[in-house]
Amino acid sequence: MADTDSIDTRIPDSCPASISEILKHAWHHNLPSLKPLLNVLGRASVQEPTTGETPLHAAIRACKASDEKSPVTAKDVVEELFMSGAIWNDVDNNNETPGCVAARLKQKDLYEMCVAAGVRAELLFEILEGYEALSSADEDEEFVDIRGNGDENAEQDDDEVPELVNIQETEIVDENPDRAFTAPKPVAATIDSEDYLRSNLTYSDGKLVDAEKNGVMMAWETSIMRASVDALLPCLTSGRRILNIGFGMGIIDQMFRDTEPAKHHIIEAHPEVLAYINGPGCKFGKDWEASSPSEGAYKVYGGKWQDVVPKLLEAGEMYDAIYFDTFGEDYSQLRMFFTDYLLGLLEEDGRFGFFNGLGADRQICYDVYTKVVEMHLSDAGMDVEWLEMQVDMQGLEAEGKGEWQGVKRRYWTLDKYRMPVATFMG
Ligand SMILES: C[S@@+](CC[C@H](N)C(=O)[O-])C[C@H]1O[C@@H](n2cnc3c(N)ncnc32)[C@H](O)[C@@H]1O
Repeated sequence: MADTDSIDTRIPDSCPASISEILKHAWHHNLPSLKPLLNVLGRASVQEPTTGETPLHAAIRACKASDEKSPVTAKDVVEELFMSGAIWNDVDNNNETPGCVAARLKQKDLYEMCVAAGVRAELLFEILEGYEALSSADEDEEFVDIRGNGDENAEQDDDEVPELVNIQETEIVDENPDRAFTAPKPVAATIDSEDYLRSNLTYSDGKLVDAEKNGVMMAWETSIMRASVDALLPCLTSGRRILNIGFGMGIIDQMFRDTEPAKHHIIEAHPEVLAYINGPGCKFGKDWEASSPSEGAYKVYGGKWQDVVPKLLEAGEMYDAIYFDTFGEDYSQLRMFFTDYLLGLLEEDGRFGFFNGLGADRQICYDVYTKVVEMHLSDAGMDVEWLEMQVDMQGLEAEGKGEWQGVKRRYWTLDKYRMPVATFMG
């Protein structure tokens, strides 16, 4: 069988000479020959037109699978490529980013360099978005959704980050003809929050899906919800005050309810979820509200959290545990929640958690976003502890099969869930 990681497979004879030269120097870790070629903007991110090999892929792929430290020469080349504007999340024809190749070949140091580059790029991207907002003030998209949209949103355009990073060192060219490769496209899942809130939902055995068959909530996540409740309410003490944002299938709310809280508030925006809550099979309808230990202690607030939370703040509501798990919203919304509102809602020694599906369809994206969100939480005055738990992947292995049958996109691919437990800095 042909070695799919061989230089001949990855850089075929048909490769244009100008691209092949860069890729081969990167592959052979020949820094003296490579470096002068990178002085033109865009050359660090050339792509072989048929395999999608970039210099980063080449430099990393040339290292054999090994538990030993990555070769110094490879690290030097990878560093030089990043300094020259190489793109951390370009995918090749195997749908692998350079970091995915590093992970597969057990090149831990090179993998960490890719993660660090991803974090730098995302932070820079955020600054650029900020500058854009000052001039145009209309679009405010951020990199990835917690649930809903795919990680492919995270890929940067060819001309985004590198221009600013390397402006002094490089000669600027108008167009980059060296990136003719078309990456394999995953099943598209671009979800707009307003469209979602207008769409028809279906509750069926083990899942809640929207009109497009996007999985809004699935029963396989029960173990994650269980672990989140256990982490947010240590010892599961009764009499706590709880706020949950996003009812979905009510899995986490049932667990919160079982702890016999003194206050249990739920915010839910979708009219059909609200109808389900008030329907015959659900235990969170009017009877539940009427069973409150004190006036208004058990309550479902209908509406978007963005509209409800300011009213809770105004009313002086405080909570010991807050969980955030919405659907189809940008990460920017989660960030806005913990940056702008959490301080006013959470008790000093309270705990905050959220469903951590950021970049969960690719390990390196998950690792990058873990670091980015940690920085943002820190900016908001929060420390975060990540509790890692095993996810039982049985039935979750393949798109459209097992648990994913009848669901448009497999939004979870990882065997470990990193659960955030955030507290105010001490
Ligand atoms: C993933 S589900 C929550 C699942 C829940 N953790 C459980 O255990 O079943 C997300 C929920 O958030 C709701 N939602 C989406 N956007 C919202 C918003 N802006 N405000 C409040 N709820 C929202 C959705 O309608 C959906 O019911």
